[in-house]
Amino acid sequence: MSKTFTETYQPNKEESSRQAFVGTLKKCVNGALEQKIHALYEEKLLPEYTEQHGKPPESRAEAKSLFEKEHLFQLWGSAVYTSQDLLWETVGDTVDRILESAEQRASEIDASDNKLGSLSLNQELELPEPIGSTEIHRQPGGYFFDSEKNGLTSPLLYYGTIQLYTAAKGFSTGKTKDTFGGHAMAQLITQRFPDTKPTRILDMGCGIGALTRGLKEFWPEAEVHGLDLSGPFMRCAHMMAEDSQLEMHFHQLDAAKTGFENNSFDLIVSQILFHETWDEKLVEIMQEVKRLLSPGGVFFNIDVPYQPDRIGIPSQVTNDWQVINNGEPFWTGFVDTNIDAALAKAGFDEQERFTDYQAAGGNNSYFLFGAQVAP
Ligand SMILES: C[S@@+](CC[C@H](N)C(=O)[O-])C[C@H]1O[C@@H](n2cnc3c(N)ncnc32)[C@H](O)[C@@H]1O
Repeated sequence: MSKTFTETYQPNKEESSRQAFVGTLKKCVNGALEQKIHALYEEKLLPEYTEQHGKPPESRAEAKSLFEKEHLFQLWGSAVYTSQDLLWETVGDTVDRILESAEQRASEIDASDNKLGSLSLNQELELPEPIGSTEIHRQPGGYFFDSEKNGLTSPLLYYGTIQLYTAAKGFSTGKTKDTFGGHAMAQLITQRFPDTKPTRILDMGCGIGALTRGLKEFWPEAEVHGLDLSGPFMRCAHMMAEDSQLEMHFHQLDAAKTGFENNSFDLIVSQILFHETWDEKLVEIMQEVKRLLSPGGVFFNIDVPYQPDRIGIPSQVTNDWQVINNGEPFWTGFVDTNIDAALAKAGFDEQERFTDYQAAGGNNSYFLFGAQVAP
């Protein structure tokens, strides 16, 4: 057998140093430079506006034009855009170099008779719009690139960015297991629902399945399934699970219409799926979850915490800029959505559902939401 995928995906020295540069640049742009925009607002834009209008701006729409004419904001936007281009360019170099080896590994696994888990692809799956034709994060070709062959370029680009951000946060990519998110989520679930001992778990919009593998490591006895619209992502998730000797099942499916039996899962989760989902789809997915959960089952989601009542005007404006210019088209739609009302619309009772925030170190937090259905 050839090398495992994680042994294969190793940036060489030049790629590593370019990726380290991009990681540092992004940290600086999204950190120190963005903080300067916050200071500019507090010290100049807010007092000037308040003096003129007798009140502060009440929404990002009202404040947006104040920022747009500032050189600092223009510099920030240009740096965000350029650093995103550099991200894809540098990660793309590694992906181009190792693609053939990764494809070989995946093909060997596809053809093997000794698989632990399963992969179910569906070339006929109709990709819902607008996500089907959107390059999220401005990822070249998007999540569905080369879907006819389920080629691995799109999942490798996604994996490469996770590696780049892991390194930029100061963690060693060789030593830091990409499944730690699944363990962290499992711990949050057991804190909130101490009696949870899931036997059948579904991770919706699981991407390349790192969180899904973490859940399987945490609950090894459970039957674990992951689903995603992207066939290439599912093929990569399957390869990585088999490489890790984990028995797991991946399906190319729409989370809103899975075809699984009623009441067939006792834990359904997602991580950063819903902020890439638009209004009506969001409720459709939640309705499907309601159908799939067995009595007492838990629905648990982690997503972005940028709801306007939690962040100031400058962050609302910079986020809005990212929506329009930097491949996060559904982000503000999601944070403007009343998730509790969406859960209610999907059929979860008041005593079943929850929305909450969880501190995640420094100024960071997660938005948690979901439900536990009645036993
Ligand atoms: C930001 S990625 C998150 C992937 C993974 N959960 C993670 O944490 O890395 C969002 C994923 O949701 C998938 N997705 C979006 N809408 C979906 C839908 N309706 N059904 C299934 N998957 C969907 C996308 O293809 C993408 O892989």
